[in-house]
Parts: sequence; C-alpha cells; structure tokens
Amino acid sequence: MDNRETVRPVSVCRVCGGNDWQDVVDFGDVPLANGFLSPADSYENERRYPLGVLSCRACRLMSLTHVVDPEVLYRDYAYTTPDSEMITQHMRHITALCRTRFELPPDSLVVELGSNTGRQLMAFREAGMRTLGVDPARNLTDVARRNGIETFPDFFSHDVARTIRRDHGQARLVLGRHVFAHIDDVSDIAAGVRELLSPDGVFAIEVPYVLDLLEKVAFDTIYHEHLSYFTMRSFVTLFARHGLRVLDVERFGVHGGSVLVFVGHEDGPWPERPSVPELLRVERQRGLYDDATYRTFAQRIERVRTELPELLRSLVAQGKRIVGYGAPAKGNTILTVCGLGLKELEYCTDTTELKQGRVLPGTHIPVHAPEHAKEHIPDYYLLLAWNYATEILDKETAFRDNGGRFIVPIPRPSILTSPSGS
Ligand code: TMP
Ligand code: ZN
Repeated sequence: MDNRETVRPVSVCRVCGGNDWQDVVDFGDVPLANGFLSPADSYENERRYPLGVLSCRACRLMSLTHVVDPEVLYRDYAYTTPDSEMITQHMRHITALCRTRFELPPDSLVVELGSNTGRQLMAFREAGMRTLGVDPARNLTDVARRNGIETFPDFFSHDVARTIRRDHGQARLVLGRHVFAHIDDVSDIAAGVRELLSPDGVFAIEVPYVLDLLEKVAFDTIYHEHLSYFTMRSFVTLFARHGLRVLDVERFGVHGGSVLVFVGHEDGPWPERPSVPELLRVERQRGLYDDATYRTFAQRIERVRTELPELLRSLVAQGKRIVGYGAPAKGNTILTVCGLGLKELEYCTDTTELKQGRVLPGTHIPVHAPEHAKEHIPDYYLLLAWNYATEILDKETAFRDNGGRFIVPIPRPSILTSPSGS
C-alpha cells in the first residue's frame, strides 16, 4: 500500500478551524513509535511518515503536520499501561478526585475512552461504580474483559456515544486519559461526549501538558499518535464551540507533566473554578501565546540532537557499553530524531512482554526483558523512560552502587553522577 493512502497533511486547526500556523519543527520521515517489529520482519518494507509540528496562532493548539490513519496505529497496539507504582497511585488519586469533587453517587456509569487493559476502570468499579471501556485495540480489549471490564471494541465517536446511551444510559463521568491528544476529529468526540453525559455529568481529560513539554524540552512526546498538544486556551476554545465548558484543571507530574481538565455542560450545575483563569494567566506569562517561545523550543531540540549523539559516541569510543532503559514510544522519537542506533545502544530493556523479543522501529535495536541486563551488564543506561526516573533510580540502586550510571536525554543530555542520585 502506498503511504499517501494512510497519511494526510493537516490544513485547518482541529480546535478552532483557523489556518494561521507557525512552523515549529520538522523531523522529516520517521517510523511509527509503537511500530515494534519482529526480528523476522523485512526491515526494508518498514514505512516512514512525515513528523513535524505546527502551532495555531489563534488558539495555540500545537498540532502534528500530518495525520496517520488510526486503523494503522491502533488496531494492534503495543502499549499497555505499565505496572508502575506511580501510575497505580495516580489512577487511585484520579478516582478519588473525580468522585469527591463531582460528587459521584454509587452505581454511576463511568465510561472510559481508550480504556486499554481496564486498570483505571477497575479502580472505579472497586469504588462501586458501573463501568464501560471503549478501545479499538483488539489485543487489549480481550485483556480488559479478562480483567472483568466490559469494553466496547471501537474508536469512540458520536455514533458510538448514541449506542452507549441507548444501551447503558447516560454517563455521570466520561474519562479520557492520554487519549484525547490521539484523536483527529475532536469535534465529533466533543459532540459525542455531550450526548453521553448526564446533565450533571463531567468529562475528565488527561493529556501531556504543552507547557511542561516546552519547558522540559520533552520533544520525544512528539510522535505520530500525538496529534495535538493542548494549551488551556485551546481547550477553552474547543469546548465553547460544543456547548460545553471547562470547569477545572489540575496539573500532575505523570508522563512528564500532564493536565487533567474537567469539562461539563455549559448550562450544567458545576461552576468554573479559579484554576481555569489562573492557568490561562500562567500560559500568557510563560509566553505560550508568542511565536518566540516555540522558536526557543526548536533551538533547544537542536541542542539535544547535537549533544546526545556526541555524548554517547564519546562513551562508545571509550569502550563503554550503553543500553536503553525502557523502550517507550517516545524513546523511539529520541533515537530516530537524534540519528542514534545499534552503534550506540546495544539493546533496550523493557518490562512490557509485548515488546520483549522484538526490535525497535527504525533503529532495530533489540528489546529484552530487564533480566537480560544481569548477564549483559551495561556501563550506562540511557534513561528513555525518564518520566519514571524516581522509581527506576530507586529500583536500580545495586546497578548504581556497582558503578553503573544513568544518562538522561532531556532537557539537556547529562550523566547522573552520585549513586544516591543527583
Ligand atoms: P510510557 O512512558 O509510555 O508509559 O512507557 C514507559 C515504558 O517503559 C513502557 O514500555 C514500560 C517501560 N518501563 C520499564 O521498562 N521499566 C520500568 O521500571 C518502568 C517504570 C517502565
Ligand atoms: Zn486553533
């Protein structure tokens, strides 16, 4: 199949309909970040798709330059929510927050878009709620069902919302954690959510926050699945166009810095909290509405693209053995965009079984279970899963006490020095 059938350029802003774009970065043609290959696959047929970002000057949505067909990206999906203590706690926290702040009665219907293996919904079920997942990845909906979470096996849409409403009634809470940024037709989703939510219902969306992305130079968050990088201004703009209203926002450290945005019916019972105008003020003050901020971001990315290969190559030249810690999708952006490969990294370790025994897209670096590193001990780990740094460093004290070192790629490549962390 030809690439042109599965990818299309973005022309108008999916949030505000504008077309006054600022070019931010262009990484050229890049393989899909979750396109893990089996070693037997023919690497010559591996497809690459254009990867770049633009910023809409009207609403300050940052968007990819191109959209890859979701059928290609999500029907068989390598990402499963990691078994991380930080994530488990975060999920519990979200459950508690939604329940208390928006007074969810027992037996409320909670619907989650992009419900993956159902872990977040399990927390709601334990709290006495009725739950329904929606996820297009066939390999994951089976796992979710085994976890006892009923899952509608499709992409969420206005049509799907009508079906759910007919079969299950209105939802008191619709959740979309780390899924909204993956959706092209956000207007259809907003219309669907409006249809599905009860009059006092709340839509809670968690996405990586663009302010953190810019300030941490977390350009590895940029890959084909992440079509949108939202500012608060873009959220307010989007929902106002669909009879909905942003009610509240919380910032969290997970996934490198995320926002949880609560949305309700425009004429619903929940007032807007001061957190909303406050974050809009912060965005203005930090320059999120100015071209110059995005130019600085692009320059910082270029610095990492120069310094990281230099650092790794100088270590390899000294005979050091470097291994990737984690094989997250974002690690593939770092590696491909920085032109790194098997010359620099011998392999990656990853706890996700679906990734083990496969190779990374683009670079074809093998992925092994963490145990592999006990026999093939690296001198350095490149911390590709940097968003879990605290728990990983805790887990790897023996490696560090034996002289092993961690390299963090962003905001500027650096080697963590002391065994107890720095
Ligand atoms: P994520 O940032 O998209 O959640 O991906 C993190 C990846 O890192 C995921 O593939 C699991 C992997 N990982 C490890 O290999 N070891 C760890 O200790 C943690 C926390 C994650
Ligand atoms: Zn816009």
